[in-house]
Amino acid sequence: MTFYKFPENFWWGSAASGPQTEGRIDGDGKGDNIWDYWYQQAPEKFFNQVGPAKTSDVYQQFKTDIQLMKQTGHNSFRTSIQWSRLFPEGTGAVNQTAVDFYNAYIDELIANDIEPFMNLYHFDMPMALQEQGGWLNRKTVDAYVNYAQTCFELFGDRVKKWFTHNEPIVPVEGGYLYQFHYPNEINLQHAVQVGYHETLASAKAIEAYHALNQGGQIGIVLNLTPSYPRDAKNPADVKAAKIADAFFNRSFLDPAVKGEFPSDLVALLKENQLLPDYQVGDLETVKANTVDLLGINYYQPRRVKAKETPIDHTHGIMPDDFFDNYEMPGKKINPYRGWEIYEKGIYDILTNVRENYGNIDCFISENGMGVEGEERYRNADGQIDDDYRIDFVKDHLKYVHQAIQEGSHCLGYHMWTCMDNWSWTNAYKNRYGFISVDLDNDCQRTIKKSGHWFKQVADKDGFED
Ligand code: BG6
Repeated sequence: MTFYKFPENFWWGSAASGPQTEGRIDGDGKGDNIWDYWYQQAPEKFFNQVGPAKTSDVYQQFKTDIQLMKQTGHNSFRTSIQWSRLFPEGTGAVNQTAVDFYNAYIDELIANDIEPFMNLYHFDMPMALQEQGGWLNRKTVDAYVNYAQTCFELFGDRVKKWFTHNEPIVPVEGGYLYQFHYPNEINLQHAVQVGYHETLASAKAIEAYHALNQGGQIGIVLNLTPSYPRDAKNPADVKAAKIADAFFNRSFLDPAVKGEFPSDLVALLKENQLLPDYQVGDLETVKANTVDLLGINYYQPRRVKAKETPIDHTHGIMPDDFFDNYEMPGKKINPYRGWEIYEKGIYDILTNVRENYGNIDCFISENGMGVEGEERYRNADGQIDDDYRIDFVKDHLKYVHQAIQEGSHCLGYHMWTCMDNWSWTNAYKNRYGFISVDLDNDCQRTIKKSGHWFKQVADKDGFED
């Protein structure tokens, strides 16, 4: 038996987002975002046709939820402000009802010794701005900075950990390459422009935050998917993996931490006439405003091989013209989400950040396992016995522990997620939480076995195995 001891003051908790948890009620003043709109247009795209208004009702139940957070060992918790709740039109007048809600939510967390980590953008573009192009339109960068600045001014006296984006590559992939977010396009030129504006917006928000001198930290949350070549001795596979890494990891990681876009990605985009529109001074802004703290979401690696399949020219150039995904035989899979489970990936990311990104302060901001049909594990006392989730967390934490032993500045571990929540088009198909939510019964919450286990881990700053 080994006791895996984590540093004192390690951040134990979980992450969620406004659009996936809050829900929507009459009179709350929230405006539509792209999810509200998309659901109105095409409800059949959403699992069991459950839309974004019917999420876990945190808007009304947050006080009870915070008690459950305490019972599951949280000393910190990340959620996001919904831009379309605070600014129903994306810009213009602030919705005072939203301000009251976020004030009450933040105050309640702090009163219960749970530090609020607040994210600003979690895939939820206000529809009024999307109608003008969303992240494609440079004016959205200004609207975002105004939104960010307003949040800092309203809540920054109490919120001391801010994040500009959650997984900014995902709106690029989902909205402009692979069709799982609105506006559902397939257009690499647009994808590049969107990603560029997200990075610029992040740098400008960081600039605004630092200028306010509120004594906190501001970072970004990135989903890092280590790209492993099929054969590390095959130069073509290695090159393919490096290109995938440039597109999907370094595209945001390098400007966020180093203030520079990766030169190999820039060269590739230039060769293919795909560089985004930019203005003089932008690169200086990105250079001067890097993050204080890096949130790392880790779910799965990417396995890559040299391009073998014919290039599909239907939609012009695509990242996939430069590599093929590799179906590695024998890999461990979460069958419900279809994602590979590779625990060592978390260690490889932390080591990469330590060796190549100045060992910046970081934490695991999401890690987790979505499972369908968890009701079958409910025992006679009403608790879901999710031993597989406990094993999943343990196996990842062991690698986090090893990385810390070797010098990584990893300061915490947040699970995705606190209570089962609405997963975009998958709605409530796969459940991720430490706490179950009964949608048919007023969203009644019950702590799962993993939630009770996590409390012990947090209390002891570690676990034995
Ligand atoms: C992360 C996101 O990608 O993973 C969350 O930050 C998301 O918003 C979570 O819900 C799980 O992924 P999914 O697609 O199963 O909901």
